[in-house]
Amino acid sequence: MSNQGNMTTLDKEMLDSISSDFYITKKRIYLNNGSISPLPISSIKSMTDFNIRYSEVGPDSKEFTDYLDKLKLETRKRVADLINGHEDEIIFTQSTTEGINMVANGLSWKVDDRLLIRNPLNEHFSNYLPWIRLSTDKNLQVRNFPEEKIESYGNSLIENFTSIYEKSTFKLVSTSHVIYNDGSITPVEEIGNIIKKRNKDTIFSIDGAQSVGAMITDVKKMKCDFLTFPSFKWLCGPLGVGILYVKKQVMEDLNPMFIGSGTAELVSVKNINSKGDKSKKSKESTKYHKYPEKYHATFRNFPGLAGLEASLRYLLRVGIQNIFQHNKYLASILRQELMKINDLTLHEATTEEFRSSLVSFSFRKQNNSRIQKLNARLQQEGVILAEREIGAKKILRASPHFYNSEDEMVRTANSIKSLIQVLD
Ligand SMILES: Cc1ncc(COP(=O)(O)O)c(C=O)c1O
Repeated sequence: MSNQGNMTTLDKEMLDSISSDFYITKKRIYLNNGSISPLPISSIKSMTDFNIRYSEVGPDSKEFTDYLDKLKLETRKRVADLINGHEDEIIFTQSTTEGINMVANGLSWKVDDRLLIRNPLNEHFSNYLPWIRLSTDKNLQVRNFPEEKIESYGNSLIENFTSIYEKSTFKLVSTSHVIYNDGSITPVEEIGNIIKKRNKDTIFSIDGAQSVGAMITDVKKMKCDFLTFPSFKWLCGPLGVGILYVKKQVMEDLNPMFIGSGTAELVSVKNINSKGDKSKKSKESTKYHKYPEKYHATFRNFPGLAGLEASLRYLLRVGIQNIFQHNKYLASILRQELMKINDLTLHEATTEEFRSSLVSFSFRKQNNSRIQKLNARLQQEGVILAEREIGAKKILRASPHFYNSEDEMVRTANSIKSLIQVLD
C-alpha cells in the first residue's frame, strides 16, 4: 500500500461527480465521517426503491422473498470482496459494537483465560468495555498493550506487543485497526503474523470501524478470526447495519447470542440423568441452522442492506486504494495548515506510514474548554468536526472522506485560525 499523502489519484471530473452525489457538500463542510458518514444519492434511492417494492408486491410475498434473498447474497458477496473473505463468513449486525459483543459473549471461556487488549488510552470503549465486562463475569485475566498508558505507534508498538505476547499464552488478542482518537494505523498484519506464528489457536479480533472502506483491509493478510465494522462510517452506508466477519474455521466456536425462528430448529435428544444413564424418554433441544443464518435472529434492517449494497458498489467502483490516497492527500493539506498555528498540537503517528486520514489536534494551553468552544463555533459556521478525547485531554478530530475537497481543507483551517483569535 502506498503511504504517500501528497497526491490524489482521482481526477477532477471524477471528484466533481462524487461531490455532487453527496448532498451534504452543498450545505456543510462535513469532516466527521469517522463518526457517521452521509449517504450518496444512489444509496438513498436504493433504499427508497426497496421500500416501494416491499409495499407494492407485499413484504411476505414469494416475489419479495426471492428479491430479498438475492439482495442478502449480493451484499455478502460485495462485503466479502471488500475484505477478501468469503460470502459465508459475512454476518449482518447493527453496528461494530454489536459485532464485538457477539464475539465476547459467543465464545467459550475458562477461568483465567488471558486476553490481550489495546490500552484504553487509544482503544475505543466499544472494543474495550465488552472485554472488561467479560473478564469480570468469567474471571479472566486482561493485559494491555502497550503496557504503559502512552500513545504508541508502528515498530515500538510491535516491540511492546511482542514482549508481552511471547511471555504467556493468550486466548484472545484484540485491537482497533485504526485508532479512533489519534488516527494511527495499527500494524495488524505484523501483529497477526506474530500471533499465529506462536500459537495458531490464539483468537485475533480486529475492530475495523475506522479502517474498512477507508483503506484496504484484507482478512487473510491480517490473519484475523473476527473483524467488525459498521456500514455507516467509511462505507457511507446507512445507520443500523454493521458487519461481523467470522473466519470459517472458528464459526463452530461462536455461539449465537440470540436464538429464535429462522436460526434454529427443535430436535429431540435422549435424556441423560446426572449419573450419565440414558432414560427412555427424550427431551426437547435446539439445533442451529447452518451459518450465517444461525446468527441472524433479530436482523430486520433489510432496507439498510439495500443502502449498504449500493454504497459498496459506489466505493468499489471508485476503488478503495484511490479513496485511501485521496483521503490521505486531504489530511496532509489540513495537517500542514494546522501545523502553522502555534497554539495547536497535532496528535498523530510519528511516521507517515502509520498515519490514517484522521486529523486530531488540541490546544497547547487551556485545552479542554477551548476545544469545546472552538467546536461549537465551527459548527455554527457549518464546519463539522468531532470532539473526542485522549485520556482526559479533549481533542478535535477531522475525518475527511473522498467526496471532500482540497478547498474544504483550506477553508476549515482558515476558519480554525480566525476563530482561535476570538475564542476567549
Ligand atoms: C474504533 C471504533 N470502534 C468502535 C466504534 C463504535 O462503532 P459502532 O457505532 O459501529 O458501534 C467506533 C465509533 O466511532 C470506533 O471509532
